Amino acid sequence: MTPVNPTHIAIFASGTGTNARQIIEYFADRKDIKVVLVVSNKPEAGVLQIAAERQIPSLLIEKERFFRGDAYLPELEHFQVNFIVLAGFLWKIPLSLVQHFSGRMINIHPALLPLYGGKGMYGQKVHAAVLEAGDRESGITIHFVTEGYDEGGIVFQAKCPVLPGDNPETLAQRIHQLEHSHFPRIIEEVIHQKRVG
Ligand code: GRF
Repeated sequence: MTPVNPTHIAIFASGTGTNARQIIEYFADRKDIKVVLVVSNKPEAGVLQIAAERQIPSLLIEKERFFRGDAYLPELEHFQVNFIVLAGFLWKIPLSLVQHFSGRMINIHPALLPLYGGKGMYGQKVHAAVLEAGDRESGITIHFVTEGYDEGGIVFQAKCPVLPGDNPETLAQRIHQLEHSHFPRIIEEVIHQKRVG
């Protein structure tokens, strides 16, 4: 049965947006869960192109208003956003948004938290640190967003091997595949409260 009020997702992303693409495609024909907005802090971010191709409205945000103003809450309300997915979004989320979307905002991190998380740990830096430590496995973590970086309750983790001869790029590719194959389904399960942090 379709719920009376559909979940309206906003995806926040700063980069290429390969995860955003997967999420948009996964929910494209759904009535109960819709991606209604893509938010980015970078005008050149590939994710904005993806949003345009898919005819999903996008919002380019700037620091002053995000951190010291209303955090774009009026726009989020305009699109009736009631769930936020961070998919490679590199700014910290202001406390007002964290509180407003408490239990309704999740992030994906390209390592097995609590390992290799925290401020400054993003993208290739994460994979370089995993390789530097000589770990034999890495993976992904999907977690709720709280005030601190990468600290909210963990919803889901999946592992992959670190192979001999890996470099940050090859490991990143393996991690990306893992993200793409799990993230949309986990979002769906969180929204349907089949998973809690
Ligand atoms: C992903 O690896 C995600 O774990 C991290 O940022 C990356 C975004 O990649 N938070 P993409 O832009 O979705 O390709």
